[in-house]
Amino acid sequence: MNFRNYRCDMTIQERIEALSQQVEGLKAGSAEELEKLRIQYLSKKGEIARLYDEFKLIPKDEKAVIGAPLNKLKQAYEARFAEMKELLSAAIAAAQPKEDLTRTPDPLTLGTRHPLSLVREEIIDIFSRIGFTVADGPEIEDDKHVFSLLNFAPEHPARDMQDTFFIEKEPEEQKPTDILLRTHTSSVQTRVMLSQQPPIRVLCPGRVYRNEAISARAHCFFHQVEGLYVDKNVSFADLREVLLYFAKEMFGAETKIRLRPSYFPFTEPSAEMDISCDICGGKGCSFCKGTGWVEILGCGMVHPNVLDACGIDSKVYTGYAFGMGVERIANLKYKVKDLRLFSENDVRFLNQFASC
Ligand code: PHE
Repeated sequence: MNFRNYRCDMTIQERIEALSQQVEGLKAGSAEELEKLRIQYLSKKGEIARLYDEFKLIPKDEKAVIGAPLNKLKQAYEARFAEMKELLSAAIAAAQPKEDLTRTPDPLTLGTRHPLSLVREEIIDIFSRIGFTVADGPEIEDDKHVFSLLNFAPEHPARDMQDTFFIEKEPEEQKPTDILLRTHTSSVQTRVMLSQQPPIRVLCPGRVYRNEAISARAHCFFHQVEGLYVDKNVSFADLREVLLYFAKEMFGAETKIRLRPSYFPFTEPSAEMDISCDICGGKGCSFCKGTGWVEILGCGMVHPNVLDACGIDSKVYTGYAFGMGVERIANLKYKVKDLRLFSENDVRFLNQFASC
């Protein structure tokens, strides 16, 4: 039986057929047109919904014949509408004005080198010109590399010179631990001596930790560059020459140095080096506390016990070592009095080094 529509004389099959022939030809040039078509075909009162209304009235035995093509028709319309929507947004995007590639770009805010990096690299550069290379080592160290191999006797009070942060391996056991944060980069020197024979000429830059109250002059972490030279016939005179060369390169050709006797367990003899105060030119000012000199590093001849403990024959070889704080050098070079500024990361402070 042919079920005829009450408003026209086409059967429902004929109208499904007619609509399915139209689907591919549907076109929308604008969002408004698309909406009009959607209302016409897919809205609650649209052509397809109307077919479904009629479908309800069809006798049961004919439903099977009409249901499948009707569902297919609905799916075809939905797919075509999705496609038209996509085509339309692609067309809208394509019609947008293109990026002007000749336009001057917005200025980028560039970061600047950190003053401590600048100073560290300058120190490395000065020493690399006379044959030093850079060695690296861990910040979390053990007692052996930081103290024992460096001639610190087990109960020696010299260990108190460097207030150490210890790391508890298993806190519940409450056992004394030998794992610690390195207090100086001399630990890298022991690692180098243990792994290679002279000639050795290395620089050991890195961060170190000491349990000190934070103030304008001290911090619980800071940076060092230490140096080590071991070979045959290395003398204190060689050390003095190299340090004088360094001071002149770093602070200017007029800079003078002064070595004062000092004590470190790992060097003998040991010394501390001062440079002439470049703020007052040696006349005496508040920065150098009226002395005309400022301390910049510790140094000395490597103690024979250290060489022997690290497997280097102290009867054949001698060596010198020195160690300096990068903050201390930066503080002199840039006249920064409070070393906390170096670790606060205030861009107003850091940006001042942009041109350095
Ligand atoms: N390691 C010493 C310190 O951190 C510095 C130093 C290095 C002194 C080498 C002498 C020789 O204070």
